[in-house]
Amino acid sequence: MILVTGATGTVGRPLVAQLAATGHAVRALTRAPRDARFPAGVESCDSASPDLDDVTAVFLNPAALWQGEQTLLDAVRNAGVTRVVTLSSSSVLTGDSRHAVANRHRELEAAAEAVAPEFVHLRADAFAANARQWIGQVRAGDTVAGPYAQAATAPVHEDDIAAVAARALTGAIPSGEAPVLTGPQSLTFTEQVRILGAVLGRPLRYEEISHAAARNAMLSNDWMTEEIADSLLRYFASCVETPTPVSPDLERILGRRGRAFEDWAAGAAGEFR
Ligand SMILES: NC(=O)c1ccc[n+]([C@@H]2O[C@H](COP(=O)([O-])OP(=O)(O)OC[C@H]3O[C@@H](n4cnc5c(N)ncnc54)[C@H](OP(=O)(O)O)[C@@H]3O)[C@@H](O)[C@H]2O)c1
Repeated sequence: MILVTGATGTVGRPLVAQLAATGHAVRALTRAPRDARFPAGVESCDSASPDLDDVTAVFLNPAALWQGEQTLLDAVRNAGVTRVVTLSSSSVLTGDSRHAVANRHRELEAAAEAVAPEFVHLRADAFAANARQWIGQVRAGDTVAGPYAQAATAPVHEDDIAAVAARALTGAIPSGEAPVLTGPQSLTFTEQVRILGAVLGRPLRYEEISHAAARNAMLSNDWMTEEIADSLLRYFASCVETPTPVSPDLERILGRRGRAFEDWAAGAAGEFR
């Protein structure tokens, strides 16, 4: 049995679907099991009281973990789970010791290693799905305002992260590996918005705003902290100087190229209209 935490999330949903479609027994953790609507055959389980019976492998999504951390980790340890696969971040590889996002993911990786004998850390780069942050602006007009127009990330499709996670959970990736998961192209924010516009048939353009204005806009989100906003902005600034390189790991593991940002945009186009 494979337990998927964060099962209703960006990566969790395609992961649950891919595991179920390939015949694996899956238990999906959510705060709202009644509303979650998982594929037929998938068990759902309330995150308030995680059921680890018969579970041999766990997908650990930090979004789900950081609220009930000790309960879940204790349950994983006590159940004698063999393998934990973390949804970590490539930010752990930065030398920036003040990077709040990196430090949270370092904690996540260490926690996983403390509760199971086998572990694989999926060090994802920026999700292509982060473009959803632009939905409101795209619906309102042709300009997307944001920081560091020339910052280049290598956006990775959530279906590809899920495909690698499925392999890691089913033992196809050796314990101790920590693949860096990027998309197939390093793209500036300007280029990402232009691609999104081409897919939507709209003349979208990215307009750079100052670091301070971007920081204020980020802090208007309830869940954003000053530490995280500052870490992300420092990261974007570094991606102007050093564009995020494309990692070979995803293609090596899946035996095919990762899905392009354009594919992601085509799949999500309806949400921007
Ligand atoms: N975005 C990026 O560029 C990026 C890059 C690298 C790594 N990551 C990592 O990936 C994670 C996000 O993955 P994702 O997008 O798949 O997850 P998500 O969609 O943000 O969340 C996954 C699920 O976790 C549950 N959840 C969310 N917030 C929660 C909370 N405060 N307390 C308890 N449960 C909560 C929700 O499920 P229910 O409502 O069903 O309980 C949600 O559907 C980030 O936390 C980050 O660590 C992100």
